[in-house]
Amino acid sequence: MAGADVLDAVILGAGAAGMMAAATAGQAGCRVVVVDHAAQPGRKILISGGGRCNFTHLESGPGMFLSANPHFAKSALARYTPRDFLDLLARHRIAWHAKAPGQLFCDRSAGEIVEMLVRECRQGHVEMALSNRIIAVRRDADGCFVVETDRMALRARAVVLATGGLSIPKLGATGLSHDLARRFGLKIVEPAPALVPLTFGAGDREWMVELAGVSMEVATRCHAGAGRRARDIVFRDGMLFTHRGLSGPAILQASSYWSAGMALDIDCLPGRDAVRCLRDLKRGRPRMGGAAMLATLLPQRLAHMLATRHLPDGPVGEMPDSVLDALGVMLSSWRLMPNGSEGYVKAEVTRGGIDTDGLSSQTMEARDVPGLFAVGEAVDVTGWLGGHNFQWAWSSGHAAGRAL
Ligand code: FDA
Repeated sequence: MAGADVLDAVILGAGAAGMMAAATAGQAGCRVVVVDHAAQPGRKILISGGGRCNFTHLESGPGMFLSANPHFAKSALARYTPRDFLDLLARHRIAWHAKAPGQLFCDRSAGEIVEMLVRECRQGHVEMALSNRIIAVRRDADGCFVVETDRMALRARAVVLATGGLSIPKLGATGLSHDLARRFGLKIVEPAPALVPLTFGAGDREWMVELAGVSMEVATRCHAGAGRRARDIVFRDGMLFTHRGLSGPAILQASSYWSAGMALDIDCLPGRDAVRCLRDLKRGRPRMGGAAMLATLLPQRLAHMLATRHLPDGPVGEMPDSVLDALGVMLSSWRLMPNGSEGYVKAEVTRGGIDTDGLSSQTMEARDVPGLFAVGEAVDVTGWLGGHNFQWAWSSGHAAGRAL
């Protein structure tokens, strides 16, 4: 037993949000223990961003997050911003660069972020209890939280649920925070894999397999919210054909808005009028075959597949406008029906989670369970691709850490 006396907080999960909460609270003078079943902290950080950790996005704001309450993330994001995280990096002399506008990565390695968080925790005298399997979390007669692991029992006046989502079980992801939240009476927004490749039925797979490895720029169109909050969101980015279906950033972004039975809307020629392009090509280069014409606009293998399936043989000059127009309409709004996703094994994040209705947006504390906090991916706040999920981990962790 690490001490029968009462700690200020036990934080469950030594990931991005948990370590941020621990360091913030520890440096403010709280006695904090972080418990994790892994032997090493921040394993997801280490593999993120291809090993360079896309640690934030300069434009991160509530509009880049999915949540049943789109306003919930506002307060925490405003009080701990991407600039605050950059100040922290500067103090630790961690070099970074922007890969795409606003999207920031480490110059050297994601390991630097983990080392920084561990150093920050050390500075706050935070105790790390790694390789501890959490067996139970309950409240005792004095109203203290008791966290029992296979190696010790801890008592604290607060517990922070920071064990993340269900994505990548082989890295130790579990539904512990969701389960504990439920047990303490909080509601859960149905979790689902997000930022995940989409899969297709046998009919589509037959031709998609032929295109495996082909990548191109597209725009995916997604519908978010309902009623007065409804809005269309367009993600213009790369798409990749795989052996199981579609991947690439534009698809991963769309996957967060996708659920079973929904179509996927893809513009294969974003920013261009596909019907006009095909008519111009017919007029300008009438002797070209269909595949050669399409290859001036699209990757060659896709052009060949589309010509075989949608255009007659012979030169484009002899093809009826109606046929070319129909293909143009299809190219600018290609409706495909995914049959699922590659699931938590491949999903970068989990959408849904602990319902924000039960939490204070200022402190992340459960409204009806004083002393119980939830931060990071375990909460129903899911960011777009591009560093937003880490920003949420830093901001929500910081908000809880200050309130402990
Ligand atoms: P996180 O998952 O970081 O930490 C949870 C901790 O809880 C872990 O240490 C885990 O071991 C522990 N835990 C889980 N269950 C437990 C149990 N039962 N008992 C004890 N401990 C338990 N985001 C981004 O913004 N930019 C990026 O570049 C990337 N890249 C990326 C790549 C890949 C491959 C993945 C899978 C994910 C990303 N992400 C990302 C998402 C990002 O990693 C994620 O949103 C944050 O790590 C969430 O931080 P949390 O602290 O909430 O959970």
